[in-house]
Amino acid sequence: MAGHNVRERIEKLRETINYHNHRYYVLDSPEISDDEYDGLMGELKRLEEEHPEFITPDSPTQRVGAAPLEAFGVIEHREPMLSMGNAFSNDELLAWHKRISGLLGEEHFDLVAEPKMDGLAVALVYENGKFVTGATRGDGFRGEDITQNLRTIKSIPLVVHGDIPARFEVRGEVYLSKQGFKKLNEDRAKAGQPLFANPRNAAAGSVRQLDSRITAQRPLDIYIYGLGWVEGENPPTHWETLEYLESLGFKLNPDNKHLTDIAEVEDYYQHWLHERERYSYDADGIVVKVNRYDLQERLGFVGREPRWAIAYKFPAIQETTRLLDIRVNVGRTGTINPYAVLEPVLVGGVTIKKAALHNEDYIRQKDLRIGDIVIIQRAGDVIPEVVAPVVSLRTGHERVFRMPEKCEVCGASVVRPEGEAMAYCTNASCPAQAHERVKHFISRGAMDIEGLGEKLAEVLLHEGLIKDVGDLYSLMDKKDELIGMERMAEKSVSNLLAAIEESKGRPLDRVIFALGIRHVGSETAELLVKHFNSMDRLSRASEVELTAIPAIGPKIAESIVAFFKQEDNRKLIERLRKAGVRMEEEAAGRTELPLSGQEFVLTGKLEAFPRSEAEARIKELGGSAGSSVTKKTTYVVVGTDPGSKLDRARQLGIKTLTEQEFLRLLKEA
Ligand code: IVH
Repeated sequence: MAGHNVRERIEKLRETINYHNHRYYVLDSPEISDDEYDGLMGELKRLEEEHPEFITPDSPTQRVGAAPLEAFGVIEHREPMLSMGNAFSNDELLAWHKRISGLLGEEHFDLVAEPKMDGLAVALVYENGKFVTGATRGDGFRGEDITQNLRTIKSIPLVVHGDIPARFEVRGEVYLSKQGFKKLNEDRAKAGQPLFANPRNAAAGSVRQLDSRITAQRPLDIYIYGLGWVEGENPPTHWETLEYLESLGFKLNPDNKHLTDIAEVEDYYQHWLHERERYSYDADGIVVKVNRYDLQERLGFVGREPRWAIAYKFPAIQETTRLLDIRVNVGRTGTINPYAVLEPVLVGGVTIKKAALHNEDYIRQKDLRIGDIVIIQRAGDVIPEVVAPVVSLRTGHERVFRMPEKCEVCGASVVRPEGEAMAYCTNASCPAQAHERVKHFISRGAMDIEGLGEKLAEVLLHEGLIKDVGDLYSLMDKKDELIGMERMAEKSVSNLLAAIEESKGRPLDRVIFALGIRHVGSETAELLVKHFNSMDRLSRASEVELTAIPAIGPKIAESIVAFFKQEDNRKLIERLRKAGVRMEEEAAGRTELPLSGQEFVLTGKLEAFPRSEAEARIKELGGSAGSSVTKKTTYVVVGTDPGSKLDRARQLGIKTLTEQEFLRLLKEA
């Protein structure tokens, strides 16, 4: 066969195979026999072997997996992957509905109900109809690049046809059917390998294999549940989007349902609850979504949870075990936090050894005693909880828990202020508190200092290189000592110092959050910046001024005022200010510019303007311009004759932009 004929035949075969793949793996209704299918695949494989120059990543032969990776790259989600609020009863569901009806000013709007799959969330990006990257959810902002592994899942189309936007992202849940799970564990038992506890763990473990050839052997499947983002038009409702995605060849859960009203949800839920044994996959509840996107937009988000969706969970799974001990640890604000030490027990497939007990009253109300047999419960991914003791099994040897009178770390006295549930260590310089405060300060949502994790922070504290967060910013004076530390080469020290330096520019709300003021979470911090836009003004605010802000109650206000009253805290803020940490936010009433938090790295030559100007424009819009591509780079802008930064971007799975795309982005911003 002549070259172009081979190429045509290859293309024809791929198209035919993709069609039958879809019939078999997505629609579950094959048109040809397995032998016929194998025949087509055999021919394609042979032709590609003879003409490797024609092999492309979207060929159906490429679903067998590729050479193992050393590590997964990182993919930044263009739109964060969110979580969802929960309801555990019909009352809670109705309360949610009432709340959003109130916000919308209408009561009757249609909904979509879907099973809440118990698997692993993934985001799949398609460019010009081809599947190009797939990522895990990760922390919601950045996930792992598991493209190679996802290619092996036959119900993920490698190519989609039809009226499609140039680029879009779909999201869904990778899962193992109950049957697939059973078969996998049977095979593992035969091979003497450890068994997976549940389908969810098995799916997560399979998808996060560095060797995609192993993934290829696992009977993974996917249900797509929505669009992440799209460059271009999308239908006006979620249901129409689902239909549209189905028409493109994506696999949708046939048990999704379009409901006209909230009154229909309970039936759907009850049906599932009673029939769930009969379903081929595990679900831990149902998801209810507002159908119309215009309403979704109006409802918006609270934190990382959309108001327009809720997970209505099935009742939790319970087990019993022994409460071996009740111990405490010291939190960052000095709280003494009791927790249960449990005889390890498998609850819904996860081994539970510890559970938070929150405070003294919580323990007393439940009448928990050390040595009790207790009921443990956990629902889906919810944190395990001690429900109650089994009183009838008591022997009389159980012991009542007493809050320690002295802090176990520093020996200072423990007090419980009147009217508060928590007990506190009274020593503001308790090392345990300092440790927790440093850990909080450097963490992701706070100052987010790259390369400074909890472990390293502990070493720095332990070695006496830092005593509090203020010391972080004078670490550059201790470079020699840092380099002398174990596993700290000169390079990693300068990276660390650079990351610390960079953190000075974090937006003010992050700085406020990072201070760890009791009751001030990241959302409250944002609100505070909106109203005061400077640390100074905030530090002078009275309780009256603070409580005038909707959503700030007396408890938060009191805590803020108390924080700024303390001499130590004021000194710390002064040190941070001197070090150059941001203490003001320019634009009053707005904390974010359109490109805030986004880092651009430019490579190659741009046509429209010199690099310096491009960088200036990025900065004007709140973004930053970096000189090297790291995991934290948001976009790499690729001009003509790009350098090695482009390779690095590909390696790390960082999104690249052409000059055109970059210009468009600036314009939109
Ligand atoms: S929609 C705001 N639909 O639940 C909504 N999520 O708690 C974003 N999940 O990480 C997700 N089934 O992995 C949606 N039918 C479904 C789902 C579903 C399972 C998971 C998903 C996500 C988590 C959110």
